Amino acid sequence: MPGADTFRAPADAYDRFVGRYGRALAAELIAFAGVERGMRALDVGCGPGALTAALAERLGTANVCGVDPSEPFAEACRRRIPGTEIAVASAEALPFRDDSFDAALSQLVVNFMADAETGVREMARVTRAGGLVASCVWDYAGEMTLLRAFWDAAAEVEPERGAAADEGVVMRWCREGELAELWRAARLGDVRFGSFTVRAPYTGFEDLWSPLPTGVGPAGAFCISLDDERRAALHDALRRQLDVGDEPFELTARAWAVAGTVPRQG
Ligand SMILES: C[S@@+](CC[C@H](N)C(=O)[O-])C[C@H]1O[C@@H](n2cnc3c(N)ncnc32)[C@H](O)[C@@H]1O
Repeated sequence: MPGADTFRAPADAYDRFVGRYGRALAAELIAFAGVERGMRALDVGCGPGALTAALAERLGTANVCGVDPSEPFAEACRRRIPGTEIAVASAEALPFRDDSFDAALSQLVVNFMADAETGVREMARVTRAGGLVASCVWDYAGEMTLLRAFWDAAAEVEPERGAAADEGVVMRWCREGELAELWRAARLGDVRFGSFTVRAPYTGFEDLWSPLPTGVGPAGAFCISLDDERRAALHDALRRQLDVGDEPFELTARAWAVAGTVPRQG
């Protein structure tokens, strides 16, 4: 999927990029999915560990595992949340036996999977009958303010390339109908949808811009593909799109959520 390999960046660059929203989003996803004390849970595409940490707080580190194909992110997650079992692996080939978990969750990952049908089927396979499979993805096309403004600015500066890379257009599995299709294809039952709007603070525009020239995420990759002049134009266009300056501000971001239950046999 577009951009899956842009998460080999240092974890602190990710923290300053969309990682700022991770903790609030994790709290929403856990509540929406219905994760309860006493469960054992898997975080698929754990990244540096926003959801892993929230799961570990609720369930205890010994009851939480995570996987991510990015070595620097898996390493950061392991370091930040000692006691959890974190493997370098992809959703499409989860290194766990059938029925290993009560819940398998993923936060902002389904659209980056190379084969989302297989990835969600794997999440269902490693979850026991009656267990939960839940995910959330950004509303790239609408109310994820940072990324929406970024791609609008990119299209201003590089009309063809910016429009062609716009995550609101190229990302699959970021609309309710597509997520329903994916969850039902994995034979999940009781499929439910939701949406969360979370907020993140910035000290000023430069704080928001600072992770982008590291190349993190598809937006960062686009940023470093530009020459210095175009990158400066993108910087100014993004600042204009967001209508912010050097003073502190907050942005909101909306995510779509889906959850289903692994059917009992017979
Ligand atoms: C936007 S980040 C989300 C990270 C973390 N879940 C969070 O909420 O901060 C997307 C993550 O998906 C991971 N990823 C990409 N392809 C994947 C795949 N096929 N299976 C599992 N994770 C994948 C990336 O390495 C990255 O850590």
